[in-house]
Parts: sequence; C-alpha cells; structure tokens
Amino acid sequence: MKKLVVKNSAAKKLRLFNPWVYQNEIAMLPQGLESGELVEVVNLKQESFGIGYANVHSVITLRMLSFVSETIDAAWIKNKLHRAISARNPIMEHSNACRLVHSEADGLAGLIVDFYDGVLSLAINTAGMERFRKEIIAALVEIVEPLGIYEKSDASAREKEGLETKEGLVYGEAPDLIEVLEYGCKFGVELGNSQKTGFYLDQRFNHGLLTEYIDEESTMLDLFCNVGGFGMHALNAGAASVTFVDISKSAIEQVKKNLKLNEFAAKRAVCVAQNAMDYIKEAAERKESYDIVVLDPPSFAKTKEQAAGAISGFKHLMLNGIKVCKPGGVIALFSCSYHVSMDDLIELSLDASRDTGVQLRVLEHLYQDKDHPYILNMPNSLYLKGLLFQRVE
Ligand SMILES: C[S@@+](CC[C@H](N)C(=O)[O-])C[C@H]1O[C@@H](n2cnc3c(N)ncnc32)[C@H](O)[C@@H]1O
Repeated sequence: MKKLVVKNSAAKKLRLFNPWVYQNEIAMLPQGLESGELVEVVNLKQESFGIGYANVHSVITLRMLSFVSETIDAAWIKNKLHRAISARNPIMEHSNACRLVHSEADGLAGLIVDFYDGVLSLAINTAGMERFRKEIIAALVEIVEPLGIYEKSDASAREKEGLETKEGLVYGEAPDLIEVLEYGCKFGVELGNSQKTGFYLDQRFNHGLLTEYIDEESTMLDLFCNVGGFGMHALNAGAASVTFVDISKSAIEQVKKNLKLNEFAAKRAVCVAQNAMDYIKEAAERKESYDIVVLDPPSFAKTKEQAAGAISGFKHLMLNGIKVCKPGGVIALFSCSYHVSMDDLIELSLDASRDTGVQLRVLEHLYQDKDHPYILNMPNSLYLKGLLFQRVE
C-alpha cells in the first residue's frame, strides 16, 4: 500500500482521532495516487497512524478509516455496517425509519444509509467510498434484506470529490411513496422527490419532545417546516392549529398530503409556500401570535466565512420569533450548521431578548437524535443544536 506523509499539524489531530486531513496538512503525496485510493498514513518520522483514503481533488484530501494498520476489504466493510446497524435496534421501537449509518461517526467516512420501512436510502459521497460501492450494496442486502436500495448521493459533495451525480434505484424495488411512522404520526416519504436522504430523521426526538408543550388550545407556527415534522406532531398531540411555512412548493405539497394521511381536518392547518424570512417579519407586522414558534432553517453557513451572515439571519428570525410568540409561549430555535454553535445561538438570542425587551427562560438544550451520533474527536460531527425557550410573562 502506498504511504501518504502528513505534516506535524495533522499528526497532532490524528493522535486525537480526528479523521480529516486537509490539503495543506499533507507533506508528501505518493506518486500515481488514484482518487479515493487506500493509503497508509505516516508522519515525517515514518510513524504510522493507520489507514485512510485520499483524493487530491478534495480539500479534505485524506479521510481516515482506521487508526490501526489493518486490512480494509469487503469483510471489514461488512463488519462496520453490521455494528452500525445493530446499534440502531432500540430506535426502531419508536419508528419504522432510522439512520443506519452516519458517515465518520460510524467509522465509514463518506457513507450515509437511512432505512424507510424496508427501503434503504443510500448516499456515497466520496471517491474513497465509491471504490467500495459493490461491497457496500452486497453487505447491506445481506444484513438488512431490504425491499430495495435507492441512491440519493449528495450531488455537491460528489462534485467536490470529482464524481458524477448519482440518483436512482440500485437494488430491488422501492415504492414511489413510503409511509413512515414516527411516534404514532404518519409521514409519506417520496425518495425521488425529497430533500437530502429522504426525511429529517435527525429531528425525530425533538419532534416528539415539543408535543409535551401542546394542549388542545395550542397554536403553532412551523417555520422552515419541510414536510411538516414539528407541526404534524403538534396536530397529532391535539393542537388547535398549525401554520406551515416553507419556500419549497413541493415540500408544502407534501405537508398537504401528510395532513390527509393523518386525517387531520383541513381547518386546523394553514400551508404557505413562501420565504420564511419575509413571512415572519410580515406576521409580526400583522401582530400574529402563536403558542409555539419553531425556527428550523437550513444550513445558513456552510463555511466559517459565512457564519457572520448566518448569525444576522438567525437574529432576524429570533427578533421576529419573539414578537409572534405569546407571553408564556415557547420558541424552538435550531442551527444545523456546525459554524453556528450553541454559544452563537445563546448570544444572538440574548441580543434579541434585549432588543425586544422580553426575558427568555431556557427550557431545553436540543441536539440531533441518537441515530445521528457524533464523535467527540470530530467536533463538526455535532452539527444540529437547538434551544427551547419560554417567553417569560
Ligand atoms: C432543516 S430543514 C427543516 C426540517 C423540518 N423542520 C423537519 O423537522 O422536518 C429546512 C427547510 O427550510 C426550507 N427553506 C430553505 N430556505 C428557506 C427560506 N428562505 N424560507 C422558507 N423555507 C426555506 C427548506 O426547503 C427545508 O425544507
């Protein structure tokens, strides 16, 4: 196996089991390296750090697969998949949908696998994982015995790796519409017509948790609702009404289908396809008020450089979110960007509290659900953070 030599700055991170090494942290690339090829990782003194795969087309040039020297082959892949999938058994007690493999956090950098009622959604996002495509599919078929496997790889991630876009059925069959059950609430998942790998499973626990604050008089504003995760659960828990807002027309169409699927009376829901940044400002001007306000925007900051702009977007949401929340009501604020941290959310909420003259009580700190594990050694694997506030009366 070819050797890749890292600089001391990378060696320090590798000793802390951080699996990513950037282009500028590499001292010497082996000659004739193919995209995604396995390499033994060593420092200038030839001390070994284990095995990874390298791709010169990517800024994250090296991703570690193992911190010891071992053979990475079909049996290794199958063993890793087996361990990841077995760890999810307790989650399947509440749902027929679950993330089975969460990339680096399951030791399989670049691979994501979701389970939706017998159908797998697969994302192979790096050149290194692409080389194991056949072995991954064969092992998933053997371990899970799925009805079908539908590939939904992340086009922008693959582009950064110099790979072509891939989407579609790669094994068996998959119905156009899969019915997912989450804490007794139904959602239709259309793999061919959905965001990311199908459904925002990372919010499952938080969807359920918010229902603790619902009674039959509750009204909710579900901003950036996607297919209605928070609002649908609120209606299922007996809420009087929910206003769903998302910029995506197809997400709002899916909300309408999910309302029918759960047999919720149409008068309990308002569905709006609009930019949520405008909607919330206009709602505050119209003096609308809700018992529960959910602010769950997409990743506003994909890089460190975008963090300042993202924070001002969050502040706009929080300022207006406070205005449309009834005194005593609840606001859930989320960031799914690693570059907007829990501390940032606290600081910008403090600013919004001062600017609106409203005190905020912290009820909960919220994170991604446990089928999206994160590893301490890789801080950016903890990407979803949230705060649940009560507007003090
Ligand atoms: C993180 S997802 C929300 C997940 C959802 N809350 C759930 O629990 O399933 C973000 C959503 O924001 C939507 N979105 C992106 N930009 C938007 C904008 N400016 N206004 C409204 N929605 C937007 C996307 O279409 C996506 O559905």
